[in-house]
Amino acid sequence: MKTLTIRRPDDWHLHLRDGAVLEAVLPHTTADFARAIVMPNLVPPVVTVSDALAYRERIMAAKPETDAFTPLMTLYLTENTDADDVEAGFRDGHVAAVKLYPAGATTNSQSGVRDIAKVQPVLERMAGIGMPLCVHGEVTDPSIDIFDREAVFIERVLQPLRERLPELKIVMEHVTTRNGVDYVKSAERNLAATLTTHHLIINRNAILAGGIRPHYYCLPVAKREEHRLALRAAATSGDRRFFLGTDSAPHLDPLKECACGCAGIFTAINTMACLAQVFEDEEALDRLEAFTSLNGPTFYGLPANEERITLVRHATPIAYPKSVYTADGPITVFNPMFPLHWEMEDHAVG
Ligand code: DOR
Ligand code: ZN
Repeated sequence: MKTLTIRRPDDWHLHLRDGAVLEAVLPHTTADFARAIVMPNLVPPVVTVSDALAYRERIMAAKPETDAFTPLMTLYLTENTDADDVEAGFRDGHVAAVKLYPAGATTNSQSGVRDIAKVQPVLERMAGIGMPLCVHGEVTDPSIDIFDREAVFIERVLQPLRERLPELKIVMEHVTTRNGVDYVKSAERNLAATLTTHHLIINRNAILAGGIRPHYYCLPVAKREEHRLALRAAATSGDRRFFLGTDSAPHLDPLKECACGCAGIFTAINTMACLAQVFEDEEALDRLEAFTSLNGPTFYGLPANEERITLVRHATPIAYPKSVYTADGPITVFNPMFPLHWEMEDHAVG
């Protein structure tokens, strides 16, 4: 039987939600991952360090006791964010990063940033203390085609921001285009990107061909095949600027299967199985560890995990749940549309 032993992975972009959904989804992340950058787009959002500490407590209370897991908390950037609070939270180790959502770009982004000039003082402070900014990189201008919003964001917002503040460490979250990959590769320092599991696997046909499939809808929306191939090449290259951020984003099924469905794909359960398959198909299993366990900590200035995990390749496909049941209703699990043969040894949801 083929096996692969690597350092325990981390997830550098994760939605855990709150309440019944948090309870149901968290064990699937803590079974496999040592740490995760936890997104702050709750309702209401996690804006202050005290909000983040309270949310952290709720996460720790929902965590299976036997899993060692460290949530890395983030703050939701608003035009009223207090730079002193941000700096104190980072220096005390309570928060790891700040998340920039352009207002209206995605789920619960209404309190995000409309005018980037208004957050310049906070960003300057972050640049001064080496605190990373995680960016949802899409413009919200309704005249820009939704498939072009990432590329236009790079030109209109990201490049000018990096010229103004070259010392600011930026993570372009969930890059979905060749343009994004090339842009990240053009930067020598202070810029990296997360790539999701699903964007390595689906292109936009998954959402639209043969009927509308809401469980493949997320933001940024999956693009055409040439972009997916660029993402796969970046992920499997070993390049230190690219690392895993699943963007696992659970929504209850009725909120996705309706006339105006929410964006988000729930991949926390089968991400490692999917990724092992992708890397095997690309003949890059020797670079899986860089993507899931090394490049992220390097960019964030954190030590890599010491613990090792083993992935086992089974001859017959493994079974995994098609849905997760929460007290509020079911959540559909990402279906990669190919059989999964890899499994994490001792993968057990406690
Ligand atoms: O698909 C997405 N879902 N993209 C995001 O940016 C937000 C996320 C969510 O919170 O559901
Ligand atoms: Zn996200």
